[in-house]
Amino acid sequence: MERLQKVLAQAGVASRRKAETLIVDGKVKVNGQVVTELGTKVSRADRVEVQGVELVKEQFVYYLLYKPRGYISTVSDEKGRKTVLDLLPMIEERIFPVGRLDFDTSGVIIMTNDGDFSYLMTHPKFGIQKKYVAKVKGIPEREALKKLERGIELDDGITAPARVKMQSFDKKTGTALVEITIQEGRNRQVRRMFDAIGCPVQKLRRESFAMLTTYGLNAGEARELTTHEVKQLRVLAETGKIG
Ligand code: URA
Repeated sequence: MERLQKVLAQAGVASRRKAETLIVDGKVKVNGQVVTELGTKVSRADRVEVQGVELVKEQFVYYLLYKPRGYISTVSDEKGRKTVLDLLPMIEERIFPVGRLDFDTSGVIIMTNDGDFSYLMTHPKFGIQKKYVAKVKGIPEREALKKLERGIELDDGITAPARVKMQSFDKKTGTALVEITIQEGRNRQVRRMFDAIGCPVQKLRRESFAMLTTYGLNAGEARELTTHEVKQLRVLAETGKIG
C-alpha cells in the first residue's frame, strides 16, 4: 500500500506537491469515489482516476546487476558519486536496488520497481540467503569462524546464525578468503562481523543472492530475471524452499 500522492507522483501525473493539491481539490477518484484525504493509501488493485483519466500502472521489472566496486547502491547520491542506476541507463521504469551493497562491495544485486517483492527479498524473516566471499587481513582461527557461525555481538545486537567456510589462506601475505552466508542485511554487516574477530575485510564480493549468481555477466552488466526466477524467489521467501 502506498500513499495516494506518492502513487500519482510516481505515475508522472504531477509533482508530489501538485498531486496533493489535485487530491484536496477533489480531482482524484479511487474505485469510483472522490478521495480528498491526503493520507489515503492505495494498492495496485485499486483503480485510480485523475480528472476522469485512469492511471496507467507501470509494469513490474526485475534485473540482476553485477555491481562493480565504486558504485553506490542508492538511486541518487548527494556527494555526486556514481550510483547503480548509472549502470542501467536504458531502463525507463523507476527501479531501485533490493537491499544494498557498500560502495566497495561487488557482486549480485537485484534492481526492481516492485516494492512488495523487495520487502520479501530483504526482510530477514523470509530467510533469503546471501553468500559473500571476503578477503580478510589475518588468518582467522577455527574458533573465530565458529563465533561468526553461531552469532557474534555487534553494536546493534547479536547476529543470526551464519554459514562460514574458509576457502583458502596465504601465510606469506597473512590473508584469507572466507565464504560467509547470511540472511540478515544490516548495514556493513559482513565487514563488522569480521572486524569483531580482528580480521578486517580487504575485499568483499556477493557471490549469490538465493540461487542467483553473476554467471555469464561481466562487472557492470545486467540481465533481466526470467519470470520463472522471479516466481522461484517469491516461493523461496514464502515457503523457505524452491519447487
Ligand atoms: N555486508 C557488508 O559489510 N557489506 C556489503 O556490501 C554487504 C554485506
